[in-house]
Amino acid sequence: TDAHTAGPFIAAIDQGTTSSRCIVFDKDGRIVSVDQREHEQIFPKPGWVEHDAKEIWANVESVVAGAIAKAGITSADVKAIGITNQRETTLLWDKHTGEPVHNAIVWQDTRTDALCKELGRNVGQDRFRRETGLPLASYFAGPKVRWLLDNVEGLRERAEAGDILFGTMDSWVIWNLTGGTDGGVHVTDVTNASRTLLMNLHEMAWDERILHSIGIPAAVLPEIRSSAEVYGRTKGGVLDGVPVASALGDQQAALFGQTCFEKGEAKSTYGTGTFMLMNTGDEPVNSYNGLLTTVGYQIGEQKPVYALEGSIAVTGSLVQWMRDQMGLIQSAAEIETLASSVEDNGGAYFVPAFSGLFAPYWRSDARGVIAGLTRYVTKAHIARAVLEATAWQTREITDAMTKDSGVDLAALKVDGGMTSNNLLMQTISDFTDAPVVRPMVAETTCLGAAYAAGLAVGFWPDTDALRANWRRAAEWTPRMPADQRDREYKNWLKAVERTMGWIE
Ligand code: G3P
Repeated sequence: TDAHTAGPFIAAIDQGTTSSRCIVFDKDGRIVSVDQREHEQIFPKPGWVEHDAKEIWANVESVVAGAIAKAGITSADVKAIGITNQRETTLLWDKHTGEPVHNAIVWQDTRTDALCKELGRNVGQDRFRRETGLPLASYFAGPKVRWLLDNVEGLRERAEAGDILFGTMDSWVIWNLTGGTDGGVHVTDVTNASRTLLMNLHEMAWDERILHSIGIPAAVLPEIRSSAEVYGRTKGGVLDGVPVASALGDQQAALFGQTCFEKGEAKSTYGTGTFMLMNTGDEPVNSYNGLLTTVGYQIGEQKPVYALEGSIAVTGSLVQWMRDQMGLIQSAAEIETLASSVEDNGGAYFVPAFSGLFAPYWRSDARGVIAGLTRYVTKAHIARAVLEATAWQTREITDAMTKDSGVDLAALKVDGGMTSNNLLMQTISDFTDAPVVRPMVAETTCLGAAYAAGLAVGFWPDTDALRANWRRAAEWTPRMPADQRDREYKNWLKAVERTMGWIE
């Protein structure tokens, strides 16, 4: 390792939607090494998305070994491991063999939309909102568990007998890290649990009545713990014996990594989807504008901190779709070059409702459209419409945040892979009419998991020490005339309407 990165270190594992990575951080929150591996996206039917959990675990082991090797360190230099993960993606596995009973059902998957409609009729939307902070939608884990129990032969009996474990990716990774069938701990943290539709947001405990109405046996559930505490120690592998000391859903980890520790502070992460979270302090705030009420983080025995969230299902994954399914670009970076070759969208609007519409609409029955097409439109205009889709969806979320919180957006802190796209960042600033700022370490998801793990083991003393690490790297300011913005926003909203009710 170089001179400026003397140990000890914290390692963070980010088990994301398209890849798993491990990053080693030093005490100043600087990146020492990174290793990353993509896994297969399995699309068995329209609207269905699955992952092979065994492939994911093998990738996690490999990137941990890779990052440690690249850093040129050993387990003795690593004080703790932090975990962060794609949220809601649902897995059931056999606790005696460690074998998944089915592929993991990914958060983007819409197979439970009919089930959600039925639950809405029988149990009522309001009940779920009130107890869990979430609307009833195919996005969340609970209905996916029920789908597996109904559709995998003999599974319900095994689950009721206590032979099956449920987990989101945090639970799967921690169980395997801490020994798997040989004493692995079966836990989840409050942030991940808050995405299941099964946790009571006020009590931070599984809600028995809701479990009963969705039809999920309590025997499969992991124990709910805080986001920053030692859950156990790694058994085997290059980090044998290191404490596993944090777990946060990736978006909550990014909130933490951006050091949004004060009420009113917000961040937006541009990955396969985009998620804006605002810290609302130690009280859950109800949304009247289509946002989610969720847990931001909980450090050990301190009070939990809540957040309002605006979730957008498809942003970076639309660029990947343009590349992989449409073949319109060779690399994700090319979308910017292509979009920059024209002045505007040529009248085209692309609403990527591939997983239905998330915030603020929550319409599982929506599907994607490209609207406003004429013979004039070229692939460059479509590329532009693709980027604008991310920016307009951001605008819809900032509008909802402003209404729910009563706070005007002073600036938008951004991070994630898509923030290297300058045209996109400028467009977001134009469409939201707010400055957009990006910190030095754009890997805030891993950084947040590392911060939480470091706090749990005393590597960092408190959140003030973390705040001191945040540095601005870039800023974009609005340049678009207001009348143009308003006109184009109306077109966008018209295009959004055209997506709804496609699935009967
Ligand atoms: O809720 C889904 C979210 O956690 C996925 O994040 O970054 O893997 O797209 P990402």
